Amino acid sequence: MLDAGAGTGYYLAAVLDRLRALPGYGETAGLALDVSVRALRWAARAHPAAGAVGWDVWKPFPVRDGVASVVLNVFAPRNGPEFRRVLRPDGALIVVTPGPGHLAELVRDAGLLTVDERKDERLSAALGAHFSLASRRDVPIALGLTRTGAAMLAGMGPSARHTGPDEIAGRLAGLAEPVSVTAAFRISLYRPR
Ligand SMILES: C[S@@+](CC[C@H](N)C(=O)[O-])C[C@H]1O[C@@H](n2cnc3c(N)ncnc32)[C@H](O)[C@@H]1O
Repeated sequence: MLDAGAGTGYYLAAVLDRLRALPGYGETAGLALDVSVRALRWAARAHPAAGAVGWDVWKPFPVRDGVASVVLNVFAPRNGPEFRRVLRPDGALIVVTPGPGHLAELVRDAGLLTVDERKDERLSAALGAHFSLASRRDVPIALGLTRTGAAMLAGMGPSARHTGPDEIAGRLAGLAEPVSVTAAFRISLYRPR
């Protein structure tokens, strides 16, 4: 299985474990691709059956045609033609994107950027030529955070480039703890056309 934009390999390891537990998939190997060398140091150790390669996912992947059972893509760039090329005909592409209401409380209180409401449309346009959507599930998770934790979470997103950490912390300073924040994930399963 291949994780494109794998970061530290956290999800790669979890999905690889589940996959290897299935009959016939016990020998499945994993591969993390990411441009961040710091993240890849973690990804390389994330699972004994996985490796990690520093790679820009907009370039052709260092993988043969039709060998991947699963391509995983969590909050990372999506290269539809390459996902299709490396997947087996019976393989699955799993894409995780921010769901409706993702970090809504931080959008309101810390002035985070909102998720582009046309993201689903853009996702379908990017993948539609090569994949059809088989199923979709929204997973909202209620978090109770300290103000410091909420500020760190806000600082991880794209808003942090526009709003400095002190400004974010200042905006959250008046909130009572635990700070309620919704993390919302949309999991889309695609099959090759
Ligand atoms: C929000 S993080 C998600 C990481 C991981 N999928 C996770 O959920 O923990 C986005 C990741 O995409 C990687 N990334 C961004 N652009 C990339 C590119 N062109 N090629 C490869 N990786 C890229 C970043 O380095 C980062 O690790």
